[in-house]
Amino acid sequence: GFAELLSNHPGLKEDIKTNRFAMNILTSAKSLLGIINELLDLAKIEAGKMEVHIEKVSVADLCENLYNLVKPIAEKKQLQLDLNVEDNIPLMDSDPGKLQQILYNLLSNGIKFTPEGGRIVLRAQTVPPEQIRISVTDTGPGIPPEAQQVIFEKFRQVDGSVARTHGGTGLGLAISKELTLMLGGTIAVASVPGEGATFSVTLPLRAPEREINAPLVNL
Ligand SMILES: Nc1ncnc2c1ncn2[C@@H]1O[C@H](COP(=O)(O)OP(=O)(O)O)[C@@H](O)[C@H]1O
Ligand SMILES: [Mg+2]
Repeated sequence: GFAELLSNHPGLKEDIKTNRFAMNILTSAKSLLGIINELLDLAKIEAGKMEVHIEKVSVADLCENLYNLVKPIAEKKQLQLDLNVEDNIPLMDSDPGKLQQILYNLLSNGIKFTPEGGRIVLRAQTVPPEQIRISVTDTGPGIPPEAQQVIFEKFRQVDGSVARTHGGTGLGLAISKELTLMLGGTIAVASVPGEGATFSVTLPLRAPEREINAPLVNL
């Protein structure tokens, strides 16, 4: 956007202070956009207007694309990011956009909450006879047992102080859970506090057909 143009403006390259201000605007704008998008997604889900588009999905390709997408973000924080995809995972009937959004949320959390020098693993495997499990494991602080259910509720964060240092709205996991349910799957966390966390999404090979919700009013 315009802040990006401003920070790259040749005349301003030498003006370090203005450049820093432009970068600050850019960071705030991106964070606001993220919050707005989360609120819009939640509103859409609650209004029953989130549509599912089922198509053939290659889990291996999807995971590799995500890996390449988040790799630079992980590297910036000195985090090791690994990809571990089982061979010959069959094509799924699912919604690749939704799947990508769920996993991007989980990867972003892993990167956000794991201190420098840690490791994040994105893993995909089959769960016979007809499920696929995709998981994100990190070496971060983990989640205490009493919080492992509530973090999937909207606006819930484990600890206000941590949330304040890390930012975020507490909507990511609630949205991820709703999207996972729409794809006929389940989402769960396993964690030993102090030893990291594993979030896993288990999905059917064939996502169920859902009836489209009729609009409440005719526009
Ligand atoms: N990988 C993780 N490690 C530790 N805590 C986590 C992790 N992922 C989520 N959490 C906890 O769950 C809360 C809710 O996550 P989320 O819904 O994505 O909201 P947000 O990222 O905006 O805080 C986080 O605030 C954090 O307390
Ligand atoms: Mg989040």
